[in-house]
Amino acid sequence: MNKNRTSSLAIVAALSVALLSGCEPPSLSGLLSSESNGAAENGQSAGEGTQPTTVEQKNEETARPQRESLAETIKDVDGVPTVTNETDLSVVVNKQRALPADYIPPDLVEPNVPFPFDEKVEKRLLRAEAAQALEELFAKAKTEGIELYAVSGYRSYKTQRSLYETYVRTQGAEHAAAYSAVPGKSEHQTGLAMDVSGYDASTRLEESFSETPEGIWLAANCADFGFVIRYLKGKEDTTGYAYEPWHLRYVGKEMAKEIMADGLTLEDYFSQAAIAHK
Ligand code: DAL
Ligand code: ZN
Repeated sequence: MNKNRTSSLAIVAALSVALLSGCEPPSLSGLLSSESNGAAENGQSAGEGTQPTTVEQKNEETARPQRESLAETIKDVDGVPTVTNETDLSVVVNKQRALPADYIPPDLVEPNVPFPFDEKVEKRLLRAEAAQALEELFAKAKTEGIELYAVSGYRSYKTQRSLYETYVRTQGAEHAAAYSAVPGKSEHQTGLAMDVSGYDASTRLEESFSETPEGIWLAANCADFGFVIRYLKGKEDTTGYAYEPWHLRYVGKEMAKEIMADGLTLEDYFSQAAIAHK
């Protein structure tokens, strides 16, 4: 990763976002650090603190690491159900689970990957661990003749609000609800999501991307680098959104492999984990 370029862009972006949104800017030392902030996933190791009594129980507990249930990571903030684990790599943000409105991820950096635009804007950014993983994913794709572009990553609350309002104005409320999160409820605000395309702009952010060589490659390989396709076809009722074969979400390799192997949504994964550990 180009650390100089990355750091200065991250600083400018984060400070502008903070100033524009009236938030406290993050500390410079935090921005300059190239390391992850250590936002640990907060699951215990499998079987920790338990005494399995049957083979079935043992298999269940070793199959999936124990995680907090979704109910344990939500609280009411002024009438809005808001997540309490916003810095976790496994945070679930959806129509029922908002981020704190003033949340700015602590370690935004620019991955050294191709973008289909030249502007130095916040949508280039991702959290450090996700940025590193995206670079590795794109590099692997290139060795297999697949050319990928990073279209849209981090979005502040303010940017998401303006995007959502534009969707409503230009495409109508129904379309907006299917494709765009209301401000505070977008995964893009976590700094863990990146929309990806191939060179062909005609399939960019279109469902037809799933049938392109790039879309097929991405679905088959993203989990090896810790990413999932977040909004799946046929799972619209669970995710609340239309199929988005371009929207990658970083969750870490272990979880991504389980989720993609079983065709799960993040919501499915957490409800199955909760059942398995009851
Ligand atoms: N397109 C996704 C749902 C978002 O706006 O966050
Ligand atoms: Zn997206």
